[in-house]
Amino acid sequence: MSRKPLISGNWKMNLNHFEAIQCVQKLSYLLTKDDYSAVDVSVHPPFTDIRSVQTVIDADELLMQLGAQHCHWEEKGAFTGEIAPAFLAKLHVKYVIVGHSERRELFGETDEMVHKKVAAVIANQMTPIMCVGETLDERETGQTEGKVLAQVAAGLVGRKPEQVSSMVIAYEPVWAIGTGRNATAEDAQAVCAAIRAEVGRMFGAEAAAQIRIQYGGSVKAGTVADLMKQPDVDGALVGGASLDPDEFARIVQLGR
Ligand code: 13P
Repeated sequence: MSRKPLISGNWKMNLNHFEAIQCVQKLSYLLTKDDYSAVDVSVHPPFTDIRSVQTVIDADELLMQLGAQHCHWEEKGAFTGEIAPAFLAKLHVKYVIVGHSERRELFGETDEMVHKKVAAVIANQMTPIMCVGETLDERETGQTEGKVLAQVAAGLVGRKPEQVSSMVIAYEPVWAIGTGRNATAEDAQAVCAAIRAEVGRMFGAEAAAQIRIQYGGSVKAGTVADLMKQPDVDGALVGGASLDPDEFARIVQLGR
């Protein structure tokens, strides 16, 4: 079973819509058809940029895919400041990051909310990129697998195997995000393999073979190739380094 890798740029709260357009255009000059046939590439701008980026992608028929950084789980209603999944689907968003550790830690997102968001994103024909990962304290006290697999189970319980097959899980150790410290390729492989085994236990061998598992946390052009050589690492969720189109294009090209 060969899984097409997915390399995603999570811009977080960076780049206004003018800067976003420039970034996407520059990236589009740097990436080739061969890159896109080897790897799926998604960009995840802030909400206020999405319409502008979508217009550029559609008008120039770019092969990169549009993503969002989160959404609410309800379809509509009195949820001031929130964005419904259907609004994103209307803008041709394909991937939605769910349960990023910054959302969990800074904005109180719980496993229960992550679970509802995964369901809502799937119900709107988009693909969740569900983030899981341990803190430094959890790693140092030997709780990495326990924590990560509990997050996997909580987010996916109740889904159908065929829904899980087409999903993406991003393993992002919290201590590696924005710190310049990344998990070694072997450590990333060990946790990604454990995640795949858990998916297999919950949803069967086919779902385990098909689900894509990304690594995220200080991924750079210099580290991506080793990570992508690992059998259970199917891509990367890139933060800081995705803001520089030259660096992000190198990551795509070295990671494919
Ligand atoms: P950095 O690549 O900046 O460490 O961020 C990783 C991340 O959180 C991507 O979602």
